[in-house]
Amino acid sequence: MNKKNILALMYDFYNLHMLKAQNDDIDYYINQIKKYNAKNVLIIGAGTGRVAIPLSKYTNITALDFDEERLNLLRKKEKNIEVVCVNFFDYEDQKKYDLIIVPYSTLQFDNNKEKLNIFFNKLNEIMKKNTLVIFDVSESFNTKNDRNKDFLFKDYCSEVEDEVEVYYTAKKFKDYIEFYIEYKLCTKNVSVIEHEKYYYYDRKLLFNVIETNNFEILKIDDGYGKDDFKHKHLYHCRKK
Ligand SMILES: C[S@@+](CC[C@H](N)C(=O)[O-])C[C@H]1O[C@@H](n2cnc3c(N)ncnc32)[C@H](O)[C@@H]1O
Repeated sequence: MNKKNILALMYDFYNLHMLKAQNDDIDYYINQIKKYNAKNVLIIGAGTGRVAIPLSKYTNITALDFDEERLNLLRKKEKNIEVVCVNFFDYEDQKKYDLIIVPYSTLQFDNNKEKLNIFFNKLNEIMKKNTLVIFDVSESFNTKNDRNKDFLFKDYCSEVEDEVEVYYTAKKFKDYIEFYIEYKLCTKNVSVIEHEKYYYYDRKLLFNVIETNNFEILKIDDGYGKDDFKHKHLYHCRKK
């Protein structure tokens, strides 16, 4: 098992321990699929399938991500999903989707203003007139603090057959925050580090990018319909 394979397994291990009610987004998306009667759904940033797999019980799902190892895990867990391994910016025109979902802050993943514009430009290219896009952006990054290798938890992970200790480092910058999550496989004496960068939620900037790319906002839900997670904003947009 190489370090990239371990990192993909650690992604699921981390989510299992840390996400908890974050998984409320799944019911939210299932409701949207039913409400909009969506027959073909694209998920951009599908990762290991946390959202894509449960949704595939309701409709045809295409799962897109540029992380091959994460998608390999998704493929192992669920065969009934079309998987596309590509940077979304290079995705070829496929005007077949009724609904596009960009879950769990994927839009904020390393996307500065310029890249956000490219993202929306690409969305525009692959959307039909009536395609709906829903993206989930989070305000939580704006208020997080710097942290320096804080111990998060330790547990046994059966996929790597080892006890794993998890450490968390966060570094804040003007427009974004970087995370380094270190996974220490205790008896194997191997460490792997996930490094991710998320841009802060900037409502004004997002409105501007949406407007300049000729999209209209149909509505914004704060949270997934339950009392919690008001820092999550679910934008529903269409082409003008
Ligand atoms: C925050 S994770 C969300 C994963 C999963 N949907 C979930 O909710 O657990 C963001 C995912 O988006 C992928 N991603 C980010 N930017 C991308 C891009 N431009 N093209 C394809 N995948 C991208 C990353 O590899 C990562 O798996």
